[in-house]
Parts: sequence; structure tokens; C-alpha cells
Amino acid sequence: MQKKRTSVLSGVLTVLLSSSVVFAQPSPNVQKRISQAIAAAGKQPNPDYTAFVNPFIGTDNFGDVCPGASIPFGMAKFSPDMTGYAPAGYVTDATQYIRGLSPLHDSGTGSSLGTYGNFEIMPLLCPGGFNTCTTTLAARQRLRKNNTDDASPGYFSLTLNNSIQMEATATRRSGIERFTFPANSQPYFVVDLANDLPASFNGGELTIDPTQGRIMIGGKWGSSFGPGAFHYQAFACYDLLDGGKQQLAQYGVWTGDTEGLDAKGLGQTHLNLSVNLIGGVYQSGALFSYANKPKQVNIRVGVSFRSADQACANAESEIGDATFEEIQAQAKAMWQDKLSKIEIDVAGTPPNVTELLYSSLYRASLTPNNATDETQGVFENTTSFYFDSLYCSWDTFRTFYPLMALHSPVEFAQIVDNYIDGWRKNGWMPECRANNLPGWTQGGSSADNIVSHFAVSYHNEATRLGIDLNELYSALVTDAEVNPPEWNIEGRQSNVYNEFGFVPFAVLDVSSTGRQTREGSRTLEYAFEDFGIRQVAQLLGKTDDVAKYTNRSLSYRNVWNPSVTSDGFKGFSQKRYSNGTFAFQDPVNCSPNDKKIDTRECSLQGDNISGFFEASSWEYSWYAPHDTDHLIQLMGGNATFVKRLDHFFNAGYYDPGNEPSFQTPIGYHYANHPASSVDRVRQVVLENFDITPAGLPGNDDQAAMATVLSFHLLGLYPVPSSTQLLVLSPFIPKYTIHNSFLNVSTTVTTVNFDPKSVQKTIPKGTAAYVKSVTVNGAAASSRCHVDFYDTFRVGGDIVITLTSDRTEADSCLGSVPESISAGGFAQAR
Ligand SMILES: *[C@@H]1O[C@H](CO)[C@@H](O)[C@H](O)[C@H]1NC(C)=O
Ligand SMILES: *[C@@H]1O[C@H](CO)[C@@H](O)[C@H](O)[C@H]1NC(C)=O
Ligand SMILES: *[C@@H]1O[C@H](CO)[C@@H](O)[C@H](O)[C@H]1NC(C)=O
Ligand SMILES: *[C@@H]1O[C@H](CO)[C@@H](O)[C@H](O)[C@H]1NC(C)=O
Ligand SMILES: *[C@@H]1O[C@H](CO)[C@@H](O)[C@H](O)[C@H]1NC(C)=O
Ligand SMILES: *[C@@H]1O[C@H](CO)[C@@H](O)[C@H](O)[C@H]1NC(C)=O
Ligand SMILES: *[C@@H]1O[C@H](CO)[C@@H](O)[C@H](O)[C@H]1NC(C)=O
Ligand SMILES: *[C@@H]1O[C@H](CO)[C@@H](O)[C@H](O)[C@H]1NC(C)=O
Ligand SMILES: *[C@@H]1O[C@H](CO)[C@@H](O)[C@H](O)[C@H]1NC(C)=O
Ligand SMILES: *[C@@H]1O[C@H](CO)[C@@H](O)[C@H](O)[C@H]1NC(C)=O
Ligand SMILES: *[C@@H]1O[C@H](CO)[C@@H](O)[C@H](O)[C@H]1NC(C)=O
Repeated sequence: MQKKRTSVLSGVLTVLLSSSVVFAQPSPNVQKRISQAIAAAGKQPNPDYTAFVNPFIGTDNFGDVCPGASIPFGMAKFSPDMTGYAPAGYVTDATQYIRGLSPLHDSGTGSSLGTYGNFEIMPLLCPGGFNTCTTTLAARQRLRKNNTDDASPGYFSLTLNNSIQMEATATRRSGIERFTFPANSQPYFVVDLANDLPASFNGGELTIDPTQGRIMIGGKWGSSFGPGAFHYQAFACYDLLDGGKQQLAQYGVWTGDTEGLDAKGLGQTHLNLSVNLIGGVYQSGALFSYANKPKQVNIRVGVSFRSADQACANAESEIGDATFEEIQAQAKAMWQDKLSKIEIDVAGTPPNVTELLYSSLYRASLTPNNATDETQGVFENTTSFYFDSLYCSWDTFRTFYPLMALHSPVEFAQIVDNYIDGWRKNGWMPECRANNLPGWTQGGSSADNIVSHFAVSYHNEATRLGIDLNELYSALVTDAEVNPPEWNIEGRQSNVYNEFGFVPFAVLDVSSTGRQTREGSRTLEYAFEDFGIRQVAQLLGKTDDVAKYTNRSLSYRNVWNPSVTSDGFKGFSQKRYSNGTFAFQDPVNCSPNDKKIDTRECSLQGDNISGFFEASSWEYSWYAPHDTDHLIQLMGGNATFVKRLDHFFNAGYYDPGNEPSFQTPIGYHYANHPASSVDRVRQVVLENFDITPAGLPGNDDQAAMATVLSFHLLGLYPVPSSTQLLVLSPFIPKYTIHNSFLNVSTTVTTVNFDPKSVQKTIPKGTAAYVKSVTVNGAAASSRCHVDFYDTFRVGGDIVITLTSDRTEADSCLGSVPESISAGGFAQAR
């Protein structure tokens, strides 16, 4: 996803952290509680894994994580919304103001505009009465009390500096908000009709039913990462009376603006606003107060993407008259169920590795948002599962779905169903669905690598999992062959790619529209997407298509310019004109070493200099995960390849904050030097991830970062669209992955695990390198890789024995990982 460049800021934060400055948020009790839980759990048989989760990791330093109250894949995520850069609503920065608490958010998305944040509620003290209440955004915003923010799976709390505490807990499409007021104050509340984080309101209505104590809201808003021309609809239902235990004193509506309007309508019950054609921020909503000065107020909130009635029905069916504690306990139990799919030897694991792992696994089940039965637009009557915030597939195909494949095929199948349904309804599979709307395409049709990963992993069970593989294959072929009229939002620019064998720079395209940039990276991504199609063709026995897409998957070679040099290394991916001439660009552009990085646009902007998306040519030139053997030849052989990888890291070209870099540290495996991959992964993890709010190197990108970290900690790395798993050195002495659909459990034991190896530089003489790998008692054919079908597919035991003898361990003692041109991926498993 879009990334803010943060080198300066993150440098500052690192310095502050290492001199152990205490931040004002979250409450220090959060870390204290987690540390205590981890220390105590070492002695218990069935740990409460939710107690190890720190929802605040990634809520600073542009991580864009939402720490709000949610169930796994919840459509509702209750979080406060704040001023400043806060795409997920919340940030730890104590100097930012709270604008309200709201039920819809995304987590980890890089949209600098922010996403959702509709239907804010803000508790107020209005000592001068109804007409003096501070209702507009600027008037009502307020700072927090330092050191009070708290969160755990299914729960969030924050205390405003006027001592009003706001808490929330959630179900899939609703939640309960609990507000605690200072003694003897009269509780007032503003509910916002129009505002959302991107300020994209496109008209809507609000109705107060004072007898029922209910506010119904509905309207239209715009995308956080997609064309401004599209709008989605959303609805909320606020039930104010807590089943009759609470009583309203006054109610009415308000409207205001930044030009001085500040009007209130006591007793009025309706607002109906159309589109503001001159622009500007809408400021309107409901205002009400409670009788009898209750200390605590409970408000039930339902949301829907279909209607306000359905929002109310969702709250009724999912919450009814359950208490806050009951809903919180239910949410927590759902999280425990998800988190316990991976169990570890807590006593033997370094405590912050435990916290990093469970916090990452938590985020790996936080999104995408399950909006099944909440569909709109062309999906209105679908019978398929439906997920919002596929934000974006380019981010998630590499590690997010491969992790899910190890333990949750049912959920994976639901999401695959949703991708295929996108093809049924829109013509192509979705790439970056955001806010129920098509978002911007990044690398091409990355959904191909997601659904093909499902197919290669679960083709034997596909029917039972509700997936028709022939339909899945048709969706893939459409992405590859049918050029959409507008490939900014779906599919690929397949017409020119299929004609030239690469996406040409400055090409005349008479039949489709899109932003003519990223030609280098789009070629590399399209080629890997073709590999995914090839893999499914192979398992369906489509021989002709296997040849065709195998060939196309080698298109990465067509943008390889053997004559470009940088720092003495020869051969780089470069964009190319349709006449075959390469369009030279410095491979350093858009890398962390780019001297013009602050002025260059390296994401989706109109800049057509670099030719690569969110990465440099230095970075993207490593990218042929299915054919690295040939890439090594292009680069001049194993020795040069290794030297070049070392230089890449040592000279600072590696950018941990964007997805094209994910597999690079493990490139050494392909040159038969797995010990170097172990060293690099230790360095990458310890330099870029930690348990603080600033502990992510960039946007979580819908848990892309969380899942690459999870794989690193588990000592595995997936090759997407294949069943190959690369073997590294776990940060954990023993773990078990349960797959309750296949009814199997797989235990990985790290013999000779030494916690001292969990350092940026592995100390000499410390066991950390892979000496041998056995699978269910038999030696693996290579110590560099295993296959899903021999391991997690069937269950049992994997034993990874470590040694401190780095030299002895620095080869695969068998085959290097597979590559197409070396005869790899020859058969479907
Ligand atoms: C809260 O913390 C922030 C950031 O450390 C600091 O600037 C501010 O003065 C603190 N406020 C109070 C009331 O202590
Ligand atoms: C609370 O924050 C507001 C700004 O939102 C500020 O004006 C006020 O002084 C703060 N009050 C306290 C007690 O810190
Ligand atoms: C709200 O206004 C729109 C026109 O902007 C109108 O079509 C609609 O009927 C109105 N709704 C109500 C309930 O008055
Ligand atoms: C969904 O079904 C309703 C009722 O039959 C129909 O009015 C509507 O057009 C359908 N929507 C779509 C997108 O097909
Ligand atoms: C999504 O919601 C539907 C409807 O409640 C449910 O059947 C399905 O299991 C949910 N899937 C996930 C992954 O949460
Ligand atoms: C591979 O594609 C190229 C064109 O890109 C073509 O010349 C060649 O014949 C194809 N090879 C096979 C085996 O299909
Ligand atoms: C190919 O096209 C580019 C851009 O128009 C031009 O600069 C280059 O000279 C052309 N190459 C050949 C061999 O004609
Ligand atoms: C961007 O593309 C346009 C049209 O192809 C070209 O005129 C312009 O020089 C290009 N800019 C750069 C910086 O390459
Ligand atoms: C790199 O080394 C491996 C293992 O020795 C070997 O199989 C492979 O052919 C080598 N690659 C190249 C391009 O020489
Ligand atoms: C865990 O904490 C220790 C002590 O603060 C630190 O040395 C180590 O680098 C941390 N490890 C990780 C994985 O964050
Ligand atoms: C797993 O076990 C359940 C209950 O015993 C059974 O219904 C199901 O068919 C089993 N699944 C597989 C893949 O064997």
C-alpha cells in the first residue's frame, strides 16, 4: 500500500525508545499486564493467548493499525477518531485530539486520507445546557488523559481529559459503548451524521425516535483509496436507553460550519442533507442528554451497509439485551479460538517474541472485514461470502493468505469465494477493494496468486470447502486474457503485455485506460501472476495452458537489461519501450538511498520516472520467486548473486516497509547459502519490528507486515502459489499449528534452540543455523525447504536441529528451493 516515507521520524523514535522515554499513550499498564501474563503462562497448561496481544503495536510511526474493539474479521471496529495523520482513527500521539468514537474502521491500510470513521459519538459536559454544547468537529475535539488508553482483543478504552471514560466492545456488525462520567454531571452526547475520516460525505439522513430512544442514520460516502467518482452506502442504529434502564432528558439536532454557523434545534428529530456541490466539510447530527445524572451510560450500536433497519436488526440479533461484560467475554472467546490455532512453548520463548507473535496473529485475523449479508451495488443479492477491505491483494498474497492456508482453510475458502464472486459480478477479481468499492490496482491482478495458492493447497477439499476449481480457473484466465477498459481498478493491461511480453513504457493503447506508470514492476508482477495460473492449469491437467502460462511467467526476463550497472553490479530490471529499447533509470531511484526520495513520487502518483511501484529497481530486480535459479544466472552466478545480496543489505537498499522486499532476505537459500538467510532474517526482524506502538517498519497493510513477521518467527517462509515452504531458524523452541478442518496438528521442535540467538547479530558460538530437518522421523531431502503436503497437510512432527557451526550449516545438503527453469514445480501435489 501507499507508504509515508518516515526515515527521519522513525530514526528519532528509535533514539527515544532506546533511552527508555515513557510515552503518554497507551497506559503503561497494558505492557505490564502482558508481561505478567506471559511470565505466568509458562507455568500453565492452557494459556489465555488473548492476554499476550498488544493491540497498540503499529499505532504509531505510520503503522496505521486499528487498536479498536473487534471480533475476528469483524465488520465493526470501534475506535476513537483523532486529528492529524490517523488513517485507522487512532494514533498514540498524545498531542492529537479526539473527535469521537465510531464503529467502522479498517486496520493497517496506508490511505493517508483515512478510511471510514463514520457515525462518531462524542460524550460532552455542557454545563451551560443544550444550546451551549460544543457540537462541531473543531469545537468538540478534546485531548486525552495521559497514560490511560487501554485495549485487549474485543475491548477498547480511552479517558478524555475531562475524566469521561469511553469503552467499547463488539460483535460482527454491532457493539456496546459504555461511557463513565464524573460524579454529578449530566451526560450529553453528539452523534455525527456526516463526518468520516476522508471527509467524503455525499448526502444522507438522520432520524431520532425519542420514544424508542433510537437514532437511525444512513448516507453515502467516498472511497479511501480509489476513484472519487464512486460512493458506498452505510447505516447505523444507536439505541440510547439500555433496555429502558436509561432515560433521555433533551434531544434535538444541530448543524454548523467553519464559517460560524452553530445552530441547534431542541426537539427536532430529522435531518435530510443532499450533496454539497460547492464542497466543504459537513457538520450536522443529533444532540441529546440523559435524565437523572447517571454515572454510566450504555449505548448499543448496530451498523449495516444495506439499510438503517438492518443496522437495528443486527444490534438486536447480535447483542439483544446482553451486557457489556457478556459481549466482551464472547469476543474474547472468539479471539482465543483464533489465537490458539498456533500454540507455543511459552516458557522457552523470549517474552517479547511471544508478544510479537500473538499480536501479529491477532492482526492476521482482524481483517479483511466480514461484510457477508451486508452487500450493496452489484453484490446486493449475492449468495457468496463477502469481505470488505481487501486492502490490497498486492500486499496480502505474499504472506497473509499463505499463513491462513496453514491453519484456517475454511476462512481462506470463504475469502476465495468472495474473490471469485468479484469476477462473477464485476468481470475481474478484485484487487484493492476499499469501502466496498473498487480501489486502485498496484501490481496487477494479485488475486491470481491468492486463489491459486488456495487451489494448490486445498484442491482435494475444494468442493467440500465450497469452491469450484473450474470456476476459479475461469476467473484466473479472465484476469490474464481479457483487457478491462479501465485497468486502474481491476485486471491487468493484458492487451499490451500479452502482445509484447512486457508492459511497454509510453505505449499507444487504443482500447483501455490506466495510469501509464510502473511498467517495470507491473511486468514482474504480471509474470508471477501467470505463474499462479500455470500452477492451477497444472493441477487441472490443462497441458496446453501449462505451456502457455509457464512461458508467460518467464516474462520477467523481458525487462531485464543486462547492460545497466549500479555499484559495480551488472544487470537490472528496467522499463522498456514497445520497440524494445530500454528506458534507462537509475536503479537507486525510490530506494532508501535515493537522494531525491523526499521529492520523488514512488507510489501511485503520476510520476513516470521510476517504472517501479513502492520499490526501486535494486529491490524489484530480485523478484522472480518462481524462477530464482535463472535470475542467479542473469546476475552472473551464485557467488555474484550472494555478493550482490550482501551489498544490497549492507549498502542500505533494502526497504523493509514495502512488500516487494519480503522474500529478499531469504534469497541466499537459492544460492545454497541458507546460513546467510538466517543471519539476514534475524537482522531484519530485530532492526525493524518490536513490541512498541512504533514497532512496525510501515503500514501494516492489512496485516501483510504482521504475517511476514509471523513467518520469520516461526522459521518458515512460503512461496506463494506453490506448496513449498522455505526452512529457516525459528525464534521459538517449539510450536504446534492446528488445522481443525483437516483434523491435523503439526509440531515443530527446534532442537538446540538458544534464546541468545534472538539478536540482530547472532553471537559466535550460538546455535542458530539449521543442521538437519526431519519430517515425521525421516530426514528431509533438503534442509532448505519442505512441502506443505508432507508437513502441515498431514500433521505430525517437524524437527529442526540447530548448530552453532555456521560453516557446516551453510548449504542445503540437498536441493536448493525450486525454480521453473531448473525443472522445479514439475508436478502438482
Ligand atoms: C501528556 O503527554 C504529552 C506527550 O508526552 C505531553 O506533551 C503533555 O504535556 C502531557 N500532558 C499532561 C497533562 O501531562
Ligand atoms: C483538556 O484538553 C483541552 C483541549 O482539548 C484543553 O483546552 C484543556 O486545557 C485540557 N484540560 C486539562 C485539564 O488538561
Ligand atoms: C430526503 O431528501 C431527498 C432529496 O434530497 C428526498 O428524495 C427524500 O425523500 C427525503 N427523505 C425524507 C424522509 O424526507
Ligand atoms: C436484487 O434483488 C432485488 C429484488 O429482486 C432487485 O430489485 C435488485 O435489482 C437486485 N440487485 C442486483 C444488483 O441484482
Ligand atoms: C463471515 O460471516 C458469515 C455470516 O455470519 C459467517 O458464516 C462466516 O463464517 C464468517 N467468516 C469469517 C471468516 O469470519
Ligand atoms: C514463448 O513465448 C515466446 C514469445 O514471448 C514465443 O516466441 C515462444 O515460442 C514461446 N514458447 C513456447 C514454448 O510456447
Ligand atoms: C525506441 O523508442 C524510443 C522512444 O520513442 C526512442 O528513444 C528509441 O530511439 C527507439 N529505439 C529504436 C531502436 O528505434
Ligand atoms: C513521462 O511521459 C511523458 C509522455 O510519455 C514524457 O513526455 C515525459 O518526458 C515523461 N517524463 C519523464 C520524467 O520521463
Ligand atoms: C547455485 O548453486 C546450486 C547448488 O550448488 C546449484 O544447483 C545451482 O545450479 C547454482 N546456480 C547457478 C546459476 O550456478
Ligand atoms: C526483546 O527484548 C530484549 C530486551 O529488551 C531485546 O534485547 C531484544 O532485542 C528483544 N527482541 C525482540 C525480538 O524484540
Ligand atoms: C474432521 O473431523 C470431523 C469430526 O470428527 C469430521 O466430521 C471431518 O470430516 C474430519 N475432516 C477431515 C478432513 O477428515
